[in-house]
Amino acid sequence: MEPSIATSIGKIQLDKPVMLASGILGISLDVFSRLHRSGAGAVVTKSLSTAPWEGYPNPTIFSVKGGGWINAVGLSNPGAANFAKTIEPNQNVPIVVSLVGSVPEDFETMLKEFENCKVKAYELNLSCPHVAKVGLEVGDDPGLVKAIVSTVKNTTNVPVIAKVGLGTSSYLNTVKTAIDSGIDAITAINTVRAMAIDVNLQRPILSNKFGGLSGTPIKPIALRCVYEISSQHDIPIIGCGGISTWEDAVEFFLAGASAVQLGSAIGDNWVGVFDQINQGILQYMEKKGHSTIREMAGLAKRS
Ligand SMILES: Cc1cc2nc3c(=O)[nH]c(=O)nc-3n(C[C@H](O)[C@H](O)[C@H](O)COP(=O)(O)O)c2cc1C
Repeated sequence: MEPSIATSIGKIQLDKPVMLASGILGISLDVFSRLHRSGAGAVVTKSLSTAPWEGYPNPTIFSVKGGGWINAVGLSNPGAANFAKTIEPNQNVPIVVSLVGSVPEDFETMLKEFENCKVKAYELNLSCPHVAKVGLEVGDDPGLVKAIVSTVKNTTNVPVIAKVGLGTSSYLNTVKTAIDSGIDAITAINTVRAMAIDVNLQRPILSNKFGGLSGTPIKPIALRCVYEISSQHDIPIIGCGGISTWEDAVEFFLAGASAVQLGSAIGDNWVGVFDQINQGILQYMEKKGHSTIREMAGLAKRS
């Protein structure tokens, strides 16, 4: 059988397994369409909130010596309602809408805005490490995770993904609570809380002091998380964190992921990276005799 890189993340079917991660290229539909034409199986929007958020003052992003970035943009976004208005009824790009909020009612309100829009899935940001009362602060609270996931699942029939990250409590508790509350899939992971200090000014570089580390340095951590989740649960997983080559993507499949997301790698390679990775995965499958991504998913757990 000819190999195919089409994949399914539970009920979410994608022609290609490499997606754009949230927050990397904003919410422009023109950009999303270009990424889709360049081989992205789906695009995830910047996380959207009930009202527009301004974000933090500069500096908000810092390039780390040896690779990677630390960012604290502060989840700046125009608000869910403003973005929903821009989606055309006949748009054909698979869009995953990322939502961020503090309480179940925030998510309920935002879902209503997208009721008549073509949305492939929702991704709940339970893991941003640098904004108070949302993201990781929610992900670290099992009661809130349960309430939010249950509410979202009762409000929409569109598949819902929980994006988890490394907070102060075990992310595996967040994963378990989300699964017990009916989540359809997990994205792992978000950026990892980090900081940088300017030795001349003798102060933190980012205006928010702390930010999130992304890119190559976090790949082994993200891979470990995907492997741990897939070892403990039968749930579709999207791997995210430091992926920039087809070999990276294949590692995540072998650890148990059914798809991957690219963030920081896009800054270095721009849109050509999607097709490069798709081609590399296909050639690897031909060489190893795998027909589907599903056949590869989790193979590293045999040993
Ligand atoms: C500038 C920037 C903004 C981000 N904004 C968001 C966001 O709004 N929501 C979210 O869930 N993740 C956000 N992330 C995290 C990424 O989606 C991704 O999880 C993380 O960068 C790890 O992937 P990478 O190493 O491929 O970049 C952002 C990352 C960066 C670098």
